[in-house]
Amino acid sequence: MRLVVVSNRVTMPERGEKVAAGGLAVALRSALEQHGGLWFGWSGAVSSEPAAQLEPVKHGKVSYAVTDLTEAERQSYYLGFANRALWPLMHYRLGLTEFTRADYAGYLGVNRRFARLLIPLLKPDDVIWIHDYHLIPLAAELRRRGVTNRIGYFHHIPWPPAEVFGSLPFSSTLISTMTAYDLIGLQTQNDVANLIGGLVALCGAHRDGNRVRTGQREAVVQAFPIGIDVEGFRKLAQASIRAATQPVRATTAPLGSRKLVIGVDRLDYSKGIVQRLEAFGTFLRNHPEYRGDVGLLQIAPPSRSDVPEYAELDRMSDEVAGRLNAALGEFDWTPIRVVKKAYSRSALAGLYRRAQVGLVTPMRDGMNLVAKEYVAAQNPSNPGVLVLSRFAGAAHQLGEALIVNPFDTHEVAEAIRTALAMPLSERQRRFERLYATISSTDIDWWTSRYLAALSGLDIPSGDIVPPGRPKTRRNTRKSGITNSLARADMLPQASQPTHGKGGAARGKALPNAPSAG
Ligand code: F6P
Repeated sequence: MRLVVVSNRVTMPERGEKVAAGGLAVALRSALEQHGGLWFGWSGAVSSEPAAQLEPVKHGKVSYAVTDLTEAERQSYYLGFANRALWPLMHYRLGLTEFTRADYAGYLGVNRRFARLLIPLLKPDDVIWIHDYHLIPLAAELRRRGVTNRIGYFHHIPWPPAEVFGSLPFSSTLISTMTAYDLIGLQTQNDVANLIGGLVALCGAHRDGNRVRTGQREAVVQAFPIGIDVEGFRKLAQASIRAATQPVRATTAPLGSRKLVIGVDRLDYSKGIVQRLEAFGTFLRNHPEYRGDVGLLQIAPPSRSDVPEYAELDRMSDEVAGRLNAALGEFDWTPIRVVKKAYSRSALAGLYRRAQVGLVTPMRDGMNLVAKEYVAAQNPSNPGVLVLSRFAGAAHQLGEALIVNPFDTHEVAEAIRTALAMPLSERQRRFERLYATISSTDIDWWTSRYLAALSGLDIPSGDIVPPGRPKTRRNTRKSGITNSLARADMLPQASQPTHGKGGAARGKALPNAPSAG
Protein backbone atom coordinates (compact mmCIF):
# COMPACT_ATOMS: atom_id res chain seq x y z
CA MET A 1 0.00 0.00 0.00
CA ARG A 2 1.27 3.48 -0.88
CA LEU A 3 0.08 6.54 1.01
CA VAL A 4 -1.07 9.49 -1.10
CA VAL A 5 -1.61 12.65 0.92
CA VAL A 6 -3.47 15.57 -0.59
CA SER A 7 -3.61 18.98 1.05
CA ASN A 8 -4.02 22.52 -0.15
CA ARG A 9 -0.64 23.57 1.20
CA VAL A 10 2.38 21.37 0.63
CA THR A 11 5.67 22.17 2.33
CA MET A 12 8.59 21.07 0.24
CA PRO A 13 11.60 20.16 2.40
CA GLU A 14 13.84 22.94 1.11
CA ARG A 15 11.34 25.60 2.14
CA GLY A 16 12.15 25.14 5.83
CA GLU A 17 9.75 24.79 8.69
CA LYS A 18 8.28 28.07 9.77
CA VAL A 19 5.37 28.37 12.13
CA ALA A 20 3.25 30.25 9.57
CA ALA A 21 2.76 26.94 7.76
CA GLY A 22 0.44 25.83 10.54
CA GLY A 23 0.13 22.55 12.40
CA LEU A 24 -1.29 20.64 9.45
CA ALA A 25 1.85 20.92 7.34
CA VAL A 26 4.10 19.95 10.24
CA ALA A 27 1.95 16.93 11.14
CA LEU A 28 1.68 15.70 7.56
CA ARG A 29 5.39 16.10 6.96
CA SER A 30 6.03 13.98 10.01
CA ALA A 31 3.49 11.29 8.94
CA LEU A 32 4.79 11.10 5.39
CA GLU A 33 8.45 11.01 6.35
CA GLN A 34 7.69 7.93 8.39
CA HIS A 35 5.49 6.08 5.89
CA GLY A 36 6.84 7.40 2.61
CA GLY A 37 4.45 8.11 -0.25
CA LEU A 38 3.21 10.93 -2.45
CA TRP A 39 2.22 14.43 -1.31
CA PHE A 40 0.02 16.32 -3.75
CA GLY A 41 -1.31 19.88 -3.57
CA TRP A 42 -0.80 23.55 -4.27
CA SER A 43 2.77 24.78 -4.68
CA GLY A 44 1.86 28.09 -3.02
CA ALA A 45 2.76 29.85 -6.29
CA VAL A 46 0.59 31.50 -8.92
CA SER A 47 1.08 31.25 -12.67
CA SER A 48 -1.02 32.09 -15.70
CA GLU A 49 -0.96 28.56 -17.16
CA PRO A 50 -0.35 25.84 -14.58
CA ALA A 51 1.03 22.63 -16.09
CA ALA A 52 -1.57 20.16 -17.36
CA GLN A 53 0.42 17.18 -16.02
CA LEU A 54 2.60 16.79 -12.96
CA GLU A 55 5.92 15.03 -12.63
CA PRO A 56 6.52 14.07 -8.97
CA VAL A 57 9.88 15.03 -7.46
CA LYS A 58 11.40 12.69 -4.89
CA HIS A 59 13.03 13.87 -1.64
CA GLY A 60 13.98 10.96 0.62
CA LYS A 61 10.97 8.66 1.07
CA VAL A 62 8.46 11.24 -0.11
CA SER A 63 7.53 12.25 -3.67
CA TYR A 64 6.01 15.70 -4.16
CA ALA A 65 3.61 16.66 -6.94
CA VAL A 66 2.56 20.29 -6.76
CA THR A 67 0.59 22.55 -9.03
CA ASP A 68 0.42 26.33 -9.23
CA LEU A 69 -2.92 28.11 -9.12
CA THR A 70 -3.97 30.84 -11.53
CA GLU A 71 -4.52 34.23 -9.89
CA ALA A 72 -8.28 33.81 -10.49
CA GLU A 73 -8.18 30.45 -8.69
CA ARG A 74 -6.19 31.85 -5.79
CA GLN A 75 -8.77 34.63 -5.41
CA SER A 76 -11.91 32.50 -5.69
CA TYR A 77 -10.89 29.11 -4.30
CA TYR A 78 -8.30 29.98 -1.64
CA LEU A 79 -8.90 33.57 -0.51
CA GLY A 80 -12.60 33.54 -1.40
CA PHE A 81 -14.56 30.38 -0.71
CA ALA A 82 -12.05 28.57 1.52
CA ASN A 83 -10.98 31.51 3.65
CA ARG A 84 -13.85 34.03 3.51
CA ALA A 85 -16.75 31.56 3.51
CA LEU A 86 -15.72 28.19 4.96
CA TRP A 87 -13.09 29.35 7.45
CA PRO A 88 -15.26 31.80 9.42
CA LEU A 89 -18.29 29.51 9.10
CA MET A 90 -16.41 26.50 10.49
CA HIS A 91 -15.18 28.71 13.35
CA TYR A 92 -18.77 29.72 14.21
CA ARG A 93 -18.21 33.29 12.92
CA LEU A 94 -21.32 33.77 10.79
CA GLY A 95 -20.92 37.54 10.90
CA LEU A 96 -17.60 37.32 9.06
CA THR A 97 -18.77 34.82 6.43
CA GLU A 98 -18.73 36.18 2.86
CA PHE A 99 -20.26 33.95 0.19
CA THR A 100 -20.29 34.54 -3.56
CA ARG A 101 -21.32 32.11 -6.30
CA ALA A 102 -18.22 32.99 -8.26
CA ASP A 103 -15.99 31.98 -5.34
CA TYR A 104 -17.90 28.73 -4.90
CA ALA A 105 -17.56 27.96 -8.60
CA GLY A 106 -13.83 28.65 -8.37
CA TYR A 107 -13.59 26.28 -5.37
CA LEU A 108 -15.33 23.49 -7.27
CA GLY A 109 -13.19 24.22 -10.32
CA VAL A 110 -9.92 23.79 -8.40
CA ASN A 111 -11.19 20.56 -6.83
CA ARG A 112 -11.98 19.26 -10.32
CA ARG A 113 -8.59 20.28 -11.61
CA PHE A 114 -6.87 18.61 -8.63
CA ALA A 115 -8.80 15.41 -9.41
CA ARG A 116 -7.73 15.49 -13.07
CA LEU A 117 -4.08 16.08 -12.12
CA LEU A 118 -4.04 13.44 -9.41
CA ILE A 119 -5.66 10.55 -11.28
CA PRO A 120 -2.72 9.80 -13.63
CA LEU A 121 -0.43 9.59 -10.59
CA LEU A 122 -2.55 6.99 -8.75
CA LYS A 123 -1.86 3.26 -8.46
CA PRO A 124 -4.60 0.70 -7.80
CA ASP A 125 -3.64 -0.06 -4.19
CA ASP A 126 -2.93 3.52 -3.12
CA VAL A 127 -4.67 4.76 -0.01
CA ILE A 128 -5.62 8.39 -0.52
CA TRP A 129 -5.75 10.76 2.45
CA ILE A 130 -7.23 14.18 1.74
CA HIS A 131 -6.91 17.04 4.22
CA ASP A 132 -8.96 20.02 5.23
CA TYR A 133 -11.77 22.25 4.14
CA HIS A 134 -10.22 23.41 0.88
CA LEU A 135 -10.78 19.95 -0.56
CA ILE A 136 -14.14 18.72 0.75
CA PRO A 137 -15.55 17.76 -2.72
CA LEU A 138 -12.32 16.19 -4.00
CA ALA A 139 -13.32 12.59 -3.24
CA ALA A 140 -16.62 13.08 -5.09
CA GLU A 141 -14.64 14.37 -8.08
CA LEU A 142 -12.35 11.35 -7.96
CA ARG A 143 -15.25 8.90 -7.61
CA ARG A 144 -17.01 10.56 -10.52
CA ARG A 145 -13.98 9.75 -12.63
CA GLY A 146 -14.00 6.12 -11.53
CA VAL A 147 -11.49 6.07 -8.67
CA THR A 148 -12.31 3.14 -6.37
CA ASN A 149 -9.36 3.36 -3.98
CA ARG A 150 -9.86 3.85 -0.30
CA ILE A 151 -10.24 7.61 0.26
CA GLY A 152 -10.12 9.25 3.67
CA TYR A 153 -10.60 12.84 4.74
CA PHE A 154 -9.34 14.61 7.83
CA HIS A 155 -10.88 17.90 8.89
CA HIS A 156 -8.32 19.86 10.90
CA ILE A 157 -10.60 22.68 11.98
CA PRO A 158 -13.91 22.67 13.90
CA TRP A 159 -17.14 21.48 12.30
CA PRO A 160 -20.08 23.65 13.44
CA PRO A 161 -23.66 22.57 14.20
CA ALA A 162 -26.07 22.12 11.27
CA GLU A 163 -27.83 25.39 12.15
CA VAL A 164 -24.59 27.25 11.49
CA PHE A 165 -23.30 25.21 8.55
CA GLY A 166 -26.74 25.26 6.93
CA SER A 167 -26.60 29.03 6.55
CA LEU A 168 -24.05 28.57 3.75
CA PRO A 169 -25.72 28.59 0.33
CA PHE A 170 -25.29 25.16 -1.30
CA SER A 171 -24.42 23.70 2.10
CA SER A 172 -26.56 20.59 1.44
CA THR A 173 -24.84 19.73 -1.81
CA LEU A 174 -21.41 20.43 -0.39
CA ILE A 175 -21.94 18.33 2.73
CA SER A 176 -23.50 15.51 0.69
CA THR A 177 -20.21 15.07 -1.21
CA MET A 178 -18.61 13.89 2.02
CA THR A 179 -20.03 10.41 1.77
CA ALA A 180 -17.71 9.91 -1.21
CA TYR A 181 -15.07 9.34 1.50
CA ASP A 182 -14.74 5.99 3.24
CA LEU A 183 -13.55 7.53 6.49
CA ILE A 184 -14.02 11.08 7.75
CA GLY A 185 -11.80 12.05 10.66
CA LEU A 186 -12.45 15.03 12.90
CA GLN A 187 -10.69 16.38 15.95
CA THR A 188 -13.32 15.91 18.67
CA GLN A 189 -16.57 14.11 19.45
CA ASN A 190 -18.32 17.50 19.25
CA ASP A 191 -17.19 17.90 15.67
CA VAL A 192 -18.29 14.33 14.88
CA ALA A 193 -21.75 14.97 16.33
CA ASN A 194 -22.04 18.26 14.42
CA LEU A 195 -21.04 16.73 11.08
CA ILE A 196 -23.31 13.71 11.46
CA GLY A 197 -26.13 16.05 12.55
CA GLY A 198 -25.49 18.16 9.45
CA LEU A 199 -25.49 15.18 7.10
CA VAL A 200 -28.80 13.99 8.55
CA ALA A 201 -30.45 17.42 8.74
CA LEU A 202 -29.20 18.96 5.50
CA CYS A 203 -29.15 16.04 3.08
CA GLY A 204 -31.34 13.40 4.68
CA ALA A 205 -28.50 10.96 5.35
CA HIS A 206 -29.24 7.75 7.25
CA ARG A 207 -27.21 7.23 10.35
CA ASP A 208 -26.24 4.00 12.05
CA GLY A 209 -23.87 4.74 14.92
CA ASN A 210 -20.87 6.41 13.35
CA ARG A 211 -21.76 5.24 9.82
CA VAL A 212 -23.60 7.66 7.59
CA ARG A 213 -25.23 6.68 4.32
CA THR A 214 -26.48 8.73 1.36
CA GLY A 215 -27.60 6.83 -1.73
CA GLN A 216 -25.09 4.07 -2.47
CA ARG A 217 -22.32 5.56 -0.37
CA GLU A 218 -21.48 5.01 3.25
CA ALA A 219 -18.84 6.85 5.28
CA VAL A 220 -17.54 6.25 8.78
CA VAL A 221 -17.27 9.46 10.81
CA GLN A 222 -14.95 9.39 13.77
CA ALA A 223 -12.77 11.52 16.08
CA PHE A 224 -9.00 11.22 15.75
CA PRO A 225 -7.42 14.00 17.84
CA ILE A 226 -4.21 14.98 16.09
CA GLY A 227 -0.93 14.83 18.00
CA ILE A 228 2.65 16.03 17.70
CA ASP A 229 6.08 14.43 17.68
CA VAL A 230 6.38 14.77 21.46
CA GLU A 231 9.78 13.20 21.87
CA GLY A 232 11.25 15.11 18.92
CA PHE A 233 9.89 18.40 20.18
CA ARG A 234 11.10 17.78 23.73
CA LYS A 235 14.61 17.16 22.44
CA LEU A 236 14.42 20.23 20.22
CA ALA A 237 13.52 22.38 23.24
CA GLN A 238 16.35 20.99 25.34
CA ALA A 239 18.87 21.47 22.55
CA SER A 240 17.62 24.96 21.77
CA ILE A 241 18.07 26.12 25.37
CA ARG A 242 21.48 24.43 25.59
CA ALA A 243 22.70 26.01 22.38
CA ALA A 244 21.09 29.35 23.31
CA THR A 245 20.19 30.03 19.68
CA GLN A 246 20.01 33.67 18.64
CA PRO A 247 16.24 34.32 18.92
CA VAL A 248 16.13 32.54 22.28
CA ARG A 249 19.14 34.50 23.58
CA ALA A 250 17.89 37.81 22.21
CA THR A 251 14.47 37.26 23.77
CA THR A 252 15.48 35.88 27.09
CA ALA A 253 18.64 37.89 27.91
CA PRO A 254 16.85 41.24 28.45
CA LEU A 255 14.24 39.45 30.57
CA GLY A 256 16.80 38.69 33.29
CA SER A 257 14.84 37.10 36.10
CA ARG A 258 11.51 38.38 34.78
CA LYS A 259 8.84 35.86 33.98
CA LEU A 260 7.69 35.20 30.45
CA VAL A 261 4.17 34.53 29.20
CA ILE A 262 4.10 33.31 25.60
CA GLY A 263 1.52 33.11 22.82
CA VAL A 264 2.30 31.72 19.34
CA ASP A 265 -0.32 31.76 16.60
CA ARG A 266 -0.81 32.57 12.96
CA LEU A 267 -2.24 36.10 12.85
CA ASP A 268 -5.83 34.88 12.62
CA TYR A 269 -9.01 36.17 14.27
CA SER A 270 -9.93 32.64 15.39
CA LYS A 271 -6.87 32.63 17.66
CA GLY A 272 -8.15 35.35 19.99
CA ILE A 273 -4.93 37.39 19.88
CA VAL A 274 -6.51 40.80 20.50
CA GLN A 275 -8.66 39.40 23.32
CA ARG A 276 -5.53 37.82 24.82
CA LEU A 277 -3.63 41.13 24.80
CA GLU A 278 -6.58 42.78 26.51
CA ALA A 279 -6.65 40.00 29.11
CA PHE A 280 -2.95 40.52 29.81
CA GLY A 281 -3.63 44.25 30.27
CA THR A 282 -6.46 43.43 32.69
CA PHE A 283 -4.16 41.09 34.61
CA LEU A 284 -1.57 43.87 35.03
CA ARG A 285 -4.23 46.36 36.08
CA ASN A 286 -5.79 43.96 38.60
CA HIS A 287 -2.43 42.76 39.96
CA PRO A 288 -0.06 45.74 39.90
CA GLU A 289 2.47 43.82 42.01
CA TYR A 290 3.39 41.93 38.82
CA ARG A 291 4.20 45.08 36.84
CA GLY A 292 7.84 45.13 35.85
CA ASP A 293 8.22 41.44 36.69
CA VAL A 294 6.56 39.71 33.77
CA GLY A 295 6.18 40.24 30.02
CA LEU A 296 3.94 38.79 27.32
CA LEU A 297 5.64 37.74 24.09
CA GLN A 298 3.13 37.19 21.30
CA ILE A 299 4.59 35.67 18.14
CA ALA A 300 2.09 36.12 15.31
CA PRO A 301 3.35 35.47 11.79
CA PRO A 302 1.10 37.14 9.23
CA SER A 303 -1.32 34.89 7.40
CA ARG A 304 -3.80 35.35 4.52
CA SER A 305 -3.05 39.09 4.53
CA ASP A 306 -5.03 39.60 1.30
CA VAL A 307 -8.24 38.80 3.16
CA PRO A 308 -9.64 42.08 4.59
CA GLU A 309 -10.53 40.61 8.00
CA TYR A 310 -6.88 39.58 8.47
CA ALA A 311 -5.58 43.03 7.49
CA GLU A 312 -7.95 44.51 10.07
CA LEU A 313 -6.67 42.12 12.74
CA ASP A 314 -3.10 43.13 11.90
CA ARG A 315 -3.99 46.78 12.50
CA MET A 316 -6.01 46.10 15.66
CA SER A 317 -3.36 43.97 17.35
CA ASP A 318 -0.78 46.74 16.87
CA GLU A 319 -3.21 49.29 18.20
CA VAL A 320 -4.15 47.31 21.30
CA ALA A 321 -0.53 46.39 22.12
CA GLY A 322 0.53 50.03 21.63
CA ARG A 323 -2.27 51.34 23.84
CA LEU A 324 -1.55 48.86 26.65
CA ASN A 325 2.21 49.41 26.51
CA ALA A 326 1.72 53.19 26.65
CA ALA A 327 -0.67 52.91 29.58
CA LEU A 328 1.13 50.27 31.63
CA GLY A 329 4.82 50.25 30.56
CA GLU A 330 7.78 51.83 32.35
CA PHE A 331 10.95 53.33 30.87
CA ASP A 332 12.77 50.04 31.55
CA TRP A 333 9.92 47.57 30.99
CA THR A 334 7.62 46.93 28.03
CA PRO A 335 4.79 44.62 29.12
CA ILE A 336 3.79 43.30 25.66
CA ARG A 337 5.88 42.47 22.64
CA VAL A 338 4.11 41.41 19.46
CA VAL A 339 6.46 39.98 16.85
CA LYS A 340 4.89 39.47 13.43
CA LYS A 341 7.28 37.04 11.83
CA ALA A 342 7.79 33.27 11.63
CA TYR A 343 10.45 31.56 13.74
CA SER A 344 12.10 28.20 13.28
CA ARG A 345 10.62 25.33 15.26
CA SER A 346 13.84 25.09 17.21
CA ALA A 347 13.60 28.73 18.34
CA LEU A 348 9.94 28.27 19.29
CA ALA A 349 10.73 25.14 21.28
CA GLY A 350 13.40 27.03 23.26
CA LEU A 351 11.05 29.96 23.91
CA TYR A 352 8.29 27.66 25.13
CA ARG A 353 10.69 26.06 27.57
CA ARG A 354 11.78 29.44 28.91
CA ALA A 355 8.17 30.67 29.35
CA GLN A 356 6.47 30.23 32.72
CA VAL A 357 3.04 30.44 31.10
CA GLY A 358 1.79 29.23 27.69
CA LEU A 359 -1.26 31.29 26.78
CA VAL A 360 -3.33 29.39 24.20
CA THR A 361 -6.70 31.10 24.07
CA PRO A 362 -8.34 30.72 20.66
CA MET A 363 -11.98 31.75 20.33
CA ARG A 364 -12.45 28.44 18.48
CA ASP A 365 -9.86 25.95 17.21
CA GLY A 366 -9.85 22.46 15.73
CA MET A 367 -7.09 21.14 17.98
CA ASN A 368 -4.30 23.71 18.51
CA LEU A 369 -0.94 22.02 18.39
CA VAL A 370 0.81 24.95 20.10
CA ALA A 371 -0.84 23.76 23.33
CA LYS A 372 0.75 20.32 22.90
CA GLU A 373 4.10 21.75 21.83
CA TYR A 374 4.19 24.01 24.89
CA VAL A 375 3.72 20.99 27.16
CA ALA A 376 6.28 18.88 25.26
CA ALA A 377 8.90 21.62 25.59
CA GLN A 378 8.71 22.00 29.40
CA ASN A 379 11.47 21.16 31.83
CA PRO A 380 9.97 18.41 34.06
CA SER A 381 11.81 19.68 37.13
CA ASN A 382 10.44 23.20 36.73
CA PRO A 383 7.56 23.15 34.25
CA GLY A 384 5.47 26.10 33.11
CA VAL A 385 1.68 26.23 33.16
CA LEU A 386 -0.62 25.96 30.17
CA VAL A 387 -3.64 28.28 30.07
CA LEU A 388 -5.99 26.84 27.47
CA SER A 389 -9.25 27.94 25.85
CA ARG A 390 -12.16 25.59 26.39
CA PHE A 391 -12.99 26.14 22.71
CA ALA A 392 -9.78 24.55 21.46
CA GLY A 393 -10.07 20.87 20.53
CA ALA A 394 -7.02 20.31 22.76
CA ALA A 395 -9.15 21.15 25.83
CA HIS A 396 -11.01 17.86 25.29
CA GLN A 397 -7.77 16.04 26.09
CA LEU A 398 -5.79 18.46 28.25
CA GLY A 399 -8.05 18.94 31.25
CA GLU A 400 -5.08 19.53 33.60
CA ALA A 401 -4.37 22.85 31.91
CA LEU A 402 -6.03 25.94 33.36
CA ILE A 403 -9.13 25.91 31.17
CA VAL A 404 -10.61 29.33 30.41
CA ASN A 405 -13.36 30.99 28.43
CA PRO A 406 -11.50 33.35 26.06
CA PHE A 407 -14.57 35.57 25.79
CA ASP A 408 -14.20 36.38 29.50
CA THR A 409 -11.28 38.81 29.81
CA HIS A 410 -11.41 38.76 33.59
CA GLU A 411 -11.29 34.95 33.75
CA VAL A 412 -8.25 34.81 31.46
CA ALA A 413 -6.54 37.55 33.50
CA GLU A 414 -7.10 35.60 36.71
CA ALA A 415 -5.81 32.38 35.11
CA ILE A 416 -2.57 34.19 34.19
CA ARG A 417 -2.20 35.23 37.81
CA THR A 418 -2.98 31.67 39.05
CA ALA A 419 -0.44 30.21 36.64
CA LEU A 420 2.30 32.63 37.69
CA ALA A 421 1.67 31.97 41.38
CA MET A 422 1.27 28.19 41.11
CA PRO A 423 3.52 26.18 43.47
CA LEU A 424 6.10 23.84 41.92
CA SER A 425 4.41 20.66 43.19
CA GLU A 426 1.12 21.54 41.48
CA ARG A 427 2.88 22.58 38.28
CA GLN A 428 4.65 19.23 38.23
CA ARG A 429 1.51 17.26 38.94
CA ARG A 430 -0.35 18.94 36.10
CA PHE A 431 2.60 18.70 33.73
CA GLU A 432 3.07 14.97 34.31
CA ARG A 433 -0.54 14.23 33.40
CA LEU A 434 -0.50 16.51 30.39
CA TYR A 435 2.74 15.00 29.17
CA ALA A 436 1.40 11.46 29.59
CA THR A 437 -1.64 12.39 27.49
CA ILE A 438 0.24 13.99 24.64
CA SER A 439 2.76 11.14 24.59
CA SER A 440 0.15 8.40 24.42
CA THR A 441 -1.70 10.20 21.59
CA ASP A 442 1.25 11.55 19.63
CA ILE A 443 1.59 11.99 15.88
CA ASP A 444 2.51 8.34 15.26
CA TRP A 445 -0.53 7.21 17.21
CA TRP A 446 -2.76 9.56 15.20
CA THR A 447 -1.33 8.50 11.85
CA SER A 448 -1.36 4.79 12.53
CA ARG A 449 -4.88 4.78 14.01
CA TYR A 450 -6.24 6.75 11.10
CA LEU A 451 -4.49 4.72 8.43
CA ALA A 452 -5.38 1.39 10.05
CA ALA A 453 -9.02 2.47 10.01
CA LEU A 454 -8.83 3.78 6.46
CA SER A 455 -7.14 0.74 5.03
CA GLY A 456 -10.14 -1.23 6.22
CA LEU A 457 -8.28 -3.45 8.65
CA ASP A 458 -9.60 -1.84 11.73
CA ILE A 459 -12.58 0.45 11.80
CA PRO A 460 -13.61 0.79 15.44
CA SER A 461 -17.29 1.30 16.04
CA GLY A 462 -16.99 3.63 19.03
CA ASP A 463 -14.53 6.23 20.24
CA ILE A 464 -10.92 5.54 19.56
CA VAL A 465 -9.06 4.41 22.62
CA PRO A 466 -5.58 5.67 23.52
CA PRO A 467 -2.94 2.95 23.87
CA GLY A 468 -2.91 1.22 27.21
CA ARG A 469 -6.65 1.44 27.78
CA PRO A 470 -9.07 -1.46 27.20
CA LYS A 471 -10.46 -1.54 23.70
CA THR A 472 -14.17 -1.60 22.85
CA ARG A 473 -16.06 -3.67 20.29
CA ARG A 474 -14.83 -3.25 16.75
CA ASN A 475 -16.31 -3.73 13.37
CA THR A 476 -14.21 -4.79 10.49
CA ARG A 477 -14.95 -3.62 7.03
CA LYS A 478 -13.13 -4.86 3.98
CA SER A 479 -12.04 -2.52 1.26
CA GLY A 480 -13.46 -2.69 -2.21
CA ILE A 481 -16.37 -0.30 -2.16
CA THR A 482 -16.71 0.72 -5.74
CA ASN A 483 -18.88 3.57 -6.67
CA SER A 484 -19.04 6.30 -9.18
CA LEU A 485 -20.54 9.00 -7.10
CA ALA A 486 -21.50 11.78 -9.44
CA ARG A 487 -22.33 14.57 -7.10
CA ALA A 488 -20.00 17.32 -8.13
CA ASP A 489 -22.19 19.35 -10.44
CA MET A 490 -23.23 21.73 -7.82
CA LEU A 491 -23.90 25.04 -9.47
CA PRO A 492 -26.24 26.11 -12.22
CA GLN A 493 -24.26 26.40 -15.46
CA ALA A 494 -24.66 30.15 -15.71
CA SER A 495 -22.95 30.73 -12.37
CA GLN A 496 -19.75 28.95 -13.21
CA PRO A 497 -16.80 30.85 -14.56
CA THR A 498 -13.97 28.95 -16.21
CA HIS A 499 -10.41 29.06 -15.04
CA GLY A 500 -7.99 28.49 -17.85
CA LYS A 501 -7.89 25.11 -19.51
CA GLY A 502 -8.55 23.07 -16.41
CA GLY A 503 -11.44 24.81 -14.73
CA ALA A 504 -14.34 24.56 -17.16
CA ALA A 505 -17.51 24.07 -15.24
CA ARG A 506 -20.12 21.58 -16.26
CA GLY A 507 -22.91 22.16 -13.89
CA LYS A 508 -26.42 21.01 -13.48
CA ALA A 509 -28.31 21.27 -10.25
CA LEU A 510 -28.57 18.09 -8.25
CA PRO A 511 -31.97 16.48 -7.84
CA ASN A 512 -31.65 16.93 -4.08
CA ALA A 513 -30.44 20.52 -4.38
CA PRO A 514 -30.66 22.35 -1.08
CA SER A 515 -33.40 24.68 -0.13
CA ALA A 516 -30.66 27.10 0.92
CA GLY A 517 -29.32 27.13 -2.62
O1 F6P B 1 -5.16 23.90 9.91
C1 F6P B 1 -5.87 24.83 9.25
C2 F6P B 1 -5.11 25.44 8.09
O2 F6P B 1 -6.00 26.13 7.26
C3 F6P B 1 -4.40 24.44 7.22
O3 F6P B 1 -5.21 23.82 6.27
C4 F6P B 1 -3.35 25.31 6.64
O4 F6P B 1 -2.27 24.64 6.13
C5 F6P B 1 -2.97 26.20 7.81
O5 F6P B 1 -4.15 26.35 8.53
C6 F6P B 1 -2.36 27.53 7.41
O6 F6P B 1 -3.24 28.26 6.60
P1 F6P B 1 -2.84 28.74 5.14
O7 F6P B 1 -2.46 27.54 4.36
O8 F6P B 1 -4.06 29.44 4.63
O9 F6P B 1 -1.68 29.66 5.33
